[in-house]
Amino acid sequence: MDGNGRWAKQRGKERIFGHENGVQAVRETVEAAGEIGVKHLTFYAFSTENWCRPKSEVNTLMELLVNAIKNETPELLEKGVKLNAIGDIDSLPEACIKELKEAIEITKNNTRLTVTVALSYSSQWEIVNAVKQIARKVKENKIDPENIDKNLFKQFLQTHGIPDPDLLIRTSGELRISNFMLWQIAYSELYFTPVMWPDFRKKHLYQAILDYQRRERRFGKT
Ligand code: FPP
Repeated sequence: MDGNGRWAKQRGKERIFGHENGVQAVRETVEAAGEIGVKHLTFYAFSTENWCRPKSEVNTLMELLVNAIKNETPELLEKGVKLNAIGDIDSLPEACIKELKEAIEITKNNTRLTVTVALSYSSQWEIVNAVKQIARKVKENKIDPENIDKNLFKQFLQTHGIPDPDLLIRTSGELRISNFMLWQIAYSELYFTPVMWPDFRKKHLYQAILDYQRRERRFGKT
């Protein structure tokens, strides 16, 4: 969800104004995905690197997240959406952890669409974390190093149980991955759009999916 800050600057406003307007784009995207039968949708909301932003922006962003989760949970519940989170959740402020855990618990039996929010997430953190867990199990003789393969490794990633993304959308015209699901996007289709995140609407999601449908996925085969 890139471009919130620039979108706000273009309007002579503070960066947080962009994040506030980004919430509406999240709402529309969830709704659109649910309507057309997408089963999994992940939002990269806060990266491990985002902690280095000015304290005031980080604090306001966290507040915004807590409020968005609190306000949206009844509708998620009603629409059959299950909430999930990936990342170093324990590093978030207590209020944020509380709201998040409550919303995850309340929506856990929903099956229509799973919405995953990546918070304090970075792919390198996730991979190192997986390696640490596996190393501990090897030390405890619970895993034989000879049995470590990609299927075992995947189980230690934050995304275990979630299929790898078919399509990755990055807004705001930046042509980078920025530490997002580096393992999981091995064969994902990438879609870059100049649309700034706060302007992202249903039609933009549909445009991305139509583009995806024209592609031929070979997964390394002929
Ligand atoms: C990137 O834009 C966006 C973020 C770091 C925050 C995204 C968070 C929200 C939209 C809040 C709502 C989210 C949920 C899941 C309820 P940027 O600040 O990097 O923009 P810039 O590249 O223009 O500076």
